[in-house]
Order: sequence, then structure tokens, then C-alpha cells
Amino acid sequence: KPIVLSGCQPSGQLSIGNYIGALRQWVTMQETHDCRFMLVDLHAITVRQDPEQLREATLDGLALYLACGLDPDKSVVFVQSHVAEHSQLAWVLNCYTQMGELNRMTQFKDKADRHTNNVNAGLFTYPALMAADILLYQANEVPVGNDQKQHLELARDVAIRFNNIYGDVFTVPEPFIPEVGARVMSLQDPTKKMSKSDDNVNNFIGLLEDPKVITKKLKRAVTDSDEQARIYFDPAEKAGVSNLLSILSAATGRSIEELVPEYADKMYGHLKTDTAAAVVEMLAPIQQRYQEYRHDRSYLNDVMRRGAEAAQAHAQVTLQRVYDAIGFVPRP
Ligand code: TYM
Repeated sequence: KPIVLSGCQPSGQLSIGNYIGALRQWVTMQETHDCRFMLVDLHAITVRQDPEQLREATLDGLALYLACGLDPDKSVVFVQSHVAEHSQLAWVLNCYTQMGELNRMTQFKDKADRHTNNVNAGLFTYPALMAADILLYQANEVPVGNDQKQHLELARDVAIRFNNIYGDVFTVPEPFIPEVGARVMSLQDPTKKMSKSDDNVNNFIGLLEDPKVITKKLKRAVTDSDEQARIYFDPAEKAGVSNLLSILSAATGRSIEELVPEYADKMYGHLKTDTAAAVVEMLAPIQQRYQEYRHDRSYLNDVMRRGAEAAQAHAQVTLQRVYDAIGFVPRP
């Protein structure tokens, strides 16, 4: 089976962007792939986190993974910091990644602009840690949303560079990006992506939000001032409307081509009401299962323990090969 690796940052409550762009695909890939899914707490600290909130968000994220359908009997589910090899390989890969490459990363530029008081070295070398995450497991496919494409390109470049020097040490990974929902946009500013760490809570929908709040946020979503209020799919001209159509499509499993004619003589309000109802329905079973998992700390511990052990067994093999290739003397 091809190997799959992916993860989310516990830097806030997971959003419908994370679910539609990534998690949903993970759940189906479990049936056909050999999967590893993690919560990347090492990545989360590239932006200052409150310790208690980080701990809670990590456990919440784990319970949400399970509630969405990740199954620890099928996939390895773990917390990144529990497997020290991630940090160890990241250091090595830092030494095979060029400043110029990191400088071109658009996510670094965005985040450096937003967190001007904390532009730390970790934020800059973040993609080298992400490359380590992927290459440690010799992943063939990496299911992510569109915003991670550039980071994946870098992981590929680093793998190829390393292999060119030392022989075939790493599998070169391929991105797996869904056709619908790879870029769920912000509700108030549909020209930028929906982000769980957005300062304006009206921009995103968290997976754990109350149905009333979800409905209110979607009803308030920015559309446009097209006087005829026509509903059609065109992300450039009709960013807000197209975003709602994409969310509706993802939540109902129906294609955009199929949905658009149904709104030919309807108003924006209809589209918003229907989208809200579909999102609430999509999340209801997830929210219910979440409550059960989140309150069972001993089960969560068990999942983390098993996940870390299984992940580490794979990670150790790769790290050892890397150390040998570079010329580190084996610890006697
Ligand atoms: P993160 O935590 O920002 O997002 C987790 C996953 O959700 C996707 N995503 C979206 N998809 C569609 N629309 C959106 N608005 C949206 N927002 C987020 C992301 O593309 C991602 O797939 N660097 C990564 C985490 C990471 C990782 C890895 C991923 C660390 N190591 C190794 C894959 C492999 C990140 O910050 O994702």
C-alpha cells in the first residue's frame, strides 16, 4: 500500500477548511493507503501559544480526528512532539535547505507580516520541519489543502537534493490536493483563505461550533453587490458566492455543476440558508462523537501511546539511514 502522511496544527479549533481541504480525504484514504496522521505541536509554537491552550487544543484535535473517522486500528494517529525523530531530522534537513528557498515561501512572508513582534527562526525554517515529517515516513502521498503546495514542493526538492548526494535515502512525495474544497475562503474576506487562527472569529467556522453560531456566521458571509444577485461559480468575479457554493458542494457531496442551476432564480439568502443547513448536518455526527472521545482521557492516552510507538518504529529506521549516509559515527 502507498504510504500517506499528513497533519494539522493545534493552533486553535480545527475549521471546516481543515476538514474539507484535508481531514475528509484522510478518512477515505485509510481504506486504501498505509496512513500516518499527526497533530503538529512543534509547528504550532512557531507562533506564541499559551501552554494551557496548546495542551487543550492538541487533545481537542485528537478527539476531533477520531470523531471525523480516523481509526487508530487502521491508521497511526499521534502527536508530533512524542516522536523526537521529527526534531532530529529537521535539524539535518535545515542543513540541506537554502535560505533563498525559505525566503520564497509565501506562508512565511504572510506570517512574518502578521506577527511582526515574533519573526523567529523556527517560523523561517518551518518548511524544513515539515519536510522532516514527511520524509521520515517515506511517504508517497501527502493529502493537503492548496495552501501547503509550496511547502510540499520544497520537501520534494530537499529529498531529491539529498538523494543526489547520498543515493536513494528518501521517497520523493507527491501532493494530493482535492478538486473541490482545496481552498475554503474566509467568510468576511473571500479573497483570503479561511484560517483557524484568524483574529476575526466571523471569518471561519470551527468544527465544534454551535449550530446557531454556524448559521449566523454563514448568513453574514460577504457576497457582493451584483444588483441582480445572480448565483454562479466564478471565484475571481464572485468570490463570496463561489465560496458558499464550494462549501455547499463539499457538505452535500453534490457537484457545483449540479447545484448551480438550482439557484438560477433564487437569492443569496437561499444559498446561505441551504449552506448553513448542510454544514450543520455535516458536523452534527462529528460533534456528537467528539464529546464522547474528548471525555475519555484514558482512551485518548491509549491512542497517543500506541500511535507514538508505531510512528517511532518507522521514524527510527529512516533517521538511522540518514545518520549513516551523512557520516555520523554510530553510537556504540
Ligand atoms: P494547517 O494546520 O494550517 O492545516 C491543516 C490542513 O488543512 C488544510 N487547510 C485548508 N484546506 C482548505 N481550505 C482552507 N481554508 C484550509 N486551511 C487549512 C491545510 O492545507 C492542511 O492540509 N504545515 C501544515 C501542517 C503540517 C503538515 C506536515 C501537513 C506539518 N507537517 C506534513 C502535511 C504533511 C499546516 O500548517 O497545516
